[in-house]
Amino acid sequence: MIILGIESTCDETSVGIVEDGVKVLSNVVASSASMHQKYGGVVPEIAARQQVKVIKSVLEESLSKFAIDSVDAFAIAYGPGLIGSLLVGVETAKTLSIVFNKPLIKVNHLVGHFYATLLLKNSGQILFPAIALVASGGHTDLLLINAHGDFRWIGGTLDDAAGESFDKVARIIGLKYPGGPEIEKLAGKFNGTKSDLKFPSSLMQKENFNFSFSGIKTSVLNYTLKNKGYDKTEVAFSFEESVVNVLVRKTIFAAKKFAVKSVLVGGGVSANHKFRSLILGESKKNNIHCFLPEKNLSGDNGAMIAAAAYFNKDFVDPLKLQSNPSLYF
Ligand code: KG4
Ligand code: ZN
Repeated sequence: MIILGIESTCDETSVGIVEDGVKVLSNVVASSASMHQKYGGVVPEIAARQQVKVIKSVLEESLSKFAIDSVDAFAIAYGPGLIGSLLVGVETAKTLSIVFNKPLIKVNHLVGHFYATLLLKNSGQILFPAIALVASGGHTDLLLINAHGDFRWIGGTLDDAAGESFDKVARIIGLKYPGGPEIEKLAGKFNGTKSDLKFPSSLMQKENFNFSFSGIKTSVLNYTLKNKGYDKTEVAFSFEESVVNVLVRKTIFAAKKFAVKSVLVGGGVSANHKFRSLILGESKKNNIHCFLPEKNLSGDNGAMIAAAAYFNKDFVDPLKLQSNPSLYF
């Protein structure tokens, strides 16, 4: 079954074509991230306008090597996200479904993120139950996955999302948006393997599945205000370490608590190198098989939406589907 998935929840416009939920035939991603840089974060109005501007060409490019006749169904990330951006993808998907008379499948964008792991070459080794961690710009959640379509939310952030904390700290130390890759780059320039500078990994010792990232951001802000000549590379290094440590610790804690066989990770933060090596190492120590998306599929893309659609098959009447900016689990 060939599914064409559309992603337009925030500042990426993407169309991915996936066969049987596991094989990427095409994945085109356009991003308006650079247009938001001077504002230090996504400006919803600009993001929405860009979606309108590029959706047609992204769709055409993804279909340049495939006849639309070979597509069996369309899939759409209908939330959560920015309403203006969402509307563009959702209305496009509904139109395609009606015009070409093919079924439409709705996908929760957050679920889509961890389905990016199904696109790995070794995804056949993913066994349930599994723990999924979604760490993106707007969300940080842990879920227990008993089977495809059988998800239970077990915890999440009480305030800022992990990616959001990267973006906010980047702004504090004068880096551009999106902050994650910028902080990672700068942290790599730190002249040392350890720093005495410690920012709090909130809720680290708490035996629950919740996160909190706003305290660490305030702590970085206070430090930079009190220490004028601070070393930016050290702040980036220590901040990154604190966030990564708590993400990995809570995920492994959940995996052990529910005695799962696999850990699936998704969302922009899963592109982070320090995060990837720590979670792989800790999973191995605990005999858990950890699956991380290919780096180019960590962020928002249409292929992960098509993969999630294939395994969940949440069919919907195109005339009835509406965008849902605050969709959750
Ligand atoms: O999943 P995503 O592309 O979009 C949302 O659904 O939000 O995630 C974007 C977030 C941003 O906050 C960005 O700073 C963060 O992911 N991010 C990273 C890295 N690359 C992107 N965070 C840490 N390290 C990275 N390498
Ligand atoms: Zn996302």
